This record gives sequence, structure tokens and C-alpha cells, in this order.
Amino acid sequence: MNGKEKISTGIKGLDEMTKGGITRSSVIAIVGPHGSGKTLMSLQFLNACLAAGKSCMYISSLHNDKELVENGAHYGWKFEPFLENKLMLKHIEPVHITQQGVELHLISNYLDELPKVVSETKAEIVIIDTITDFLMLCKSEIERRSRLMGLLDILKKNGSTVLITAEAAVASDMTPSGIVEYITDGVIVLRRVQSQDLSEVVHIIQIVKLRWAEHSREIRQFDFTNTGIEVYSKYNVMLGWHGR
Ligand SMILES: Nc1ncnc2c1ncn2[C@@H]1O[C@H](COP(=O)(O)OP(=O)(O)O)[C@@H](O)[C@H]1O
Ligand SMILES: [Mg+2]
Repeated sequence: MNGKEKISTGIKGLDEMTKGGITRSSVIAIVGPHGSGKTLMSLQFLNACLAAGKSCMYISSLHNDKELVENGAHYGWKFEPFLENKLMLKHIEPVHITQQGVELHLISNYLDELPKVVSETKAEIVIIDTITDFLMLCKSEIERRSRLMGLLDILKKNGSTVLITAEAAVASDMTPSGIVEYITDGVIVLRRVQSQDLSEVVHIIQIVKLRWAEHSREIRQFDFTNTGIEVYSKYNVMLGWHGR
């Protein structure tokens, strides 16, 4: 991937850690527990890509279009004007529940629907928040692996640059099966740790893998601000102190 264009993540500190951003046509995973900032980071990346004039598809299994537009606006990111041409928001619910009498039935064709949706896009940037539902619906490790490989193959053939988010297992910095980390080109881990004096929780970010590219091995502190995620400089990492 050497020599390929780097796409800014929209986060200055993360661009420093990745030596310029995400390599074009690579597949990067953001892994972390709930509330660690995966969705926010993916929306911040979306905003940066739109600002750079790229065509984007954002697939969400949790948030509908209205929520995404409203939440983006909260951080100063205006998605609405791009909906005309450069941005496609796609809310796909992985499972539908129907009720017959007292019986609940779970219906899902997500495992076929998601590959179909991505195969139809020509977007330069594809963001999937989150891939966890797709993996959970697979019945075995081998199915999980081949379905994910199939999905990413479609995106690679399209030449898209891909960002996927994945839930980490509780008290771990890995997804339950580890397949996401294994298959993707890069893995960015978001974690929460207790500050030294135990008075607060601090957020940390680390790049654990970035194939074919030079990257930082630092663990940096980050925070949520009114303009999105801010990754602090390595000189400012002091647990419990933001050093701004
Ligand atoms: N402006 C803000 N000020 C403080 N915290 C914020 C702000 N915006 C977001 N957060 C934090 O970000 C978290 C949401 O992150 P989110 O991206 O939804 O996480 P994930 O997708 O990993 O579950 C919230 O739980 C909240 O703690
Ligand atoms: Mg989320």
C-alpha cells in the first residue's frame, strides 16, 4: 500500500499516529466496548471525508438517518447538504421481531442484505457501524470468517476505503472471535481506564495493527469535546490530567 493516498481521519492526533490518516482502499476496524466513542469517531471520519469531496456510504444498524444528521449537527458536522449527491445514509435493522400470539419470532436476512447493499455502492468511502450484529448472526466460526471475508472482498473489489466498528468483549480490547482483527488491514482500539488517583475514567486510543504502513505504537489519551474526539499529543498523556 506504499505510495497510496492517505485519507485524513478528521482527528489531528490520530492522523499523527497513523502518519497521515487511513490508506486508500484499506479496511480499518475501530474496536472498543460500548460508549468508547466508536460511533462518534466513525461520524467524525465521515465528516472529514465529505469535506474532502469524497463520496460516502454510512451504514448504521442502530441509528436512523434523522438521528445521525441531528447528532452530527451537535458537533458542528453538517451532513444534510451532502445527502443530495455525496452521502448515502443507510439504516438497516439486522433483526425484525414478529409476534404470533405469545410467540416471538426473530426474522433476519441481514447476512445477505449487507453484502447486497455494499455490492451496489460505488462510494469511495464505506463506513459500517457496527459489524458486530453481522458476526453475531453467523452460526459458526467458519461461517463468521467466510461471511466477513466475502463482505470485505466485495468492498475491496470496488476499491472502497472501509471503516468498520466492532464491539469488544467486556473487559477486553478484542472482539469475541478476534476475526475482525485478523481479517482487517488495521485495528484501532479504544479503551476506558481509571485515572491514577481513581477519581475518573479516562479514554485511551492505540493502533494495534496497520498493515504495510508505518504507525505510532503510543497509547494516547483522548477526550470527547463539543467538536468531536480530540486525541492528545503524546507529551500530554498523564492519566487524570488532560494537559490542554
Ligand atoms: N460532548 C461530549 N461531552 C462529553 N462526553 C461526550 C460528548 N459526546 C460524546 N460523549 C461521550 O461519548 C460516548 C458515546 O460514544 P459512542 O460513539 O456512542 O460510543 P460507542 O459507539 O463506542 O458505543 C458517550 O457515552 C459519552 O460519554
Ligand atoms: Mg456506537
